[in-house]
Amino acid sequence: MTILVTGGAGFIGSHTCVELLNNDYQVVVIDNLYNSSEKSLDRVREITGKDLKFYKGDILDHDLLDRIFKENDIDCVIHFAGLKAVGESIHKPWEYYNNNIGGSLTLLDAMKKAGCKNLIFSSSATVYGNPAEIPITENCPKGTCTNPYGWTKWMLEQIFTDMHTADPEWNVILLRYFNPIGAHPSGLIGEDPNGIPNNLMPYITQVAIGKLPELGIFGNDYDTPDGTCVRDYIHVVDLATGHVAALKKIKENVGLGIYNLGTGIGYSVLDVVNNFMEATGVKIPYSFKPRREGDVPQCYSSAEKAKKELGWEAKHSLKDMCRDSWNWQQKNPNGFKD
Ligand code: NAD
Ligand code: UD1
Repeated sequence: MTILVTGGAGFIGSHTCVELLNNDYQVVVIDNLYNSSEKSLDRVREITGKDLKFYKGDILDHDLLDRIFKENDIDCVIHFAGLKAVGESIHKPWEYYNNNIGGSLTLLDAMKKAGCKNLIFSSSATVYGNPAEIPITENCPKGTCTNPYGWTKWMLEQIFTDMHTADPEWNVILLRYFNPIGAHPSGLIGEDPNGIPNNLMPYITQVAIGKLPELGIFGNDYDTPDGTCVRDYIHVVDLATGHVAALKKIKENVGLGIYNLGTGIGYSVLDVVNNFMEATGVKIPYSFKPRREGDVPQCYSSAEKAKKELGWEAKHSLKDMCRDSWNWQQKNPNGFKD
């Protein structure tokens, strides 16, 4: 079976390529390397001892997509390619809608032409907005997003659902990720943010390695056990194996499937900091800062549906995630840039 992985050179895409190759899938990647490096794909080859095919290019490039479908017998597309910086999306809405929605529409058109009707999409827990229930099940109503990035996920879920409604031969799986962190245990691939990280774990590892002086914790007066926000952190390798489970499901002609990919456990920001210090022995200086706009107090999944229907569950602990994030950061202080 041949899988087209859009955005396969990125953080989650590269880890998923590893798991696909380890499960004997043929892998074809398209990535414009806007937020990644081709080195990650060399590392995927190194980890697995297997090859994959890489097309450097944009999912907005219709001709290239047509060529990829002509040159390869693609059975399913796993669609990661997209812009993902929440804050940036507020200042560059057109770029986000054009890239994420325009790119996905171009991809859908190429898939239609090629007769490939199997799609697994990277959605996000952000579609739940300020969630109406905790833990969040897939039946929780979608909420109001606070930024264009979130809206692209919200709207794309609708677009892909409508494709399936119009033509039930389409199999669409929407995977709603919670907070992916960690890295491959080899330390060869991991998250490589540009500039000062916005997300918690890369910020912590950059404090740990001395690039940043201290962590600012955004808010300690939330209605949570220790006053800091609670999230469902999931090891990126678990997230990657979730895609292999979704692929198996899609082969059963699933129709439309919606699954949370999380652990089902909520940890606070202070839990993450404390687990990091315990797992690594490195002290993280921190201070409390005002709340960050758009943050919800609590967001963690019910992981039951994926367990029951995909036979998948996350296996790694928060300490594993901290250890592997730190291993990646130490081995690659400048990410893929060296
Ligand atoms: P990433 O930025 O590391 O990977 C995305 C990849 O897509 C990058 O390699 C980038 O170069 C590529 N890309 C972007 N636009 C493209 C285009 N027009 N054509 C070709 N390639 C393009 O991000 P990630 O963390 O690996 O996220 C992957 C997907 O998962 C994204 O869609 C993201 O929105 C979604 N997601 C991520 C998280 C998270 O916390 N990381 C959470 C929920 C959902
Ligand atoms: C954010 C996005 C979400 C996106 C996800 C992955 C927002 C509001 N949400 O999730 O849409 O899918 O990233 O890209 O931006 N924190 C600190 N100090 C820091 C960084 C973070 O205290 O320096 C706290 C945050 O306030 C939050 C928690 O750590 O409570 C996790 O933050 P982060 O890693 O940015 O993820 P989310 O905000 O959950």
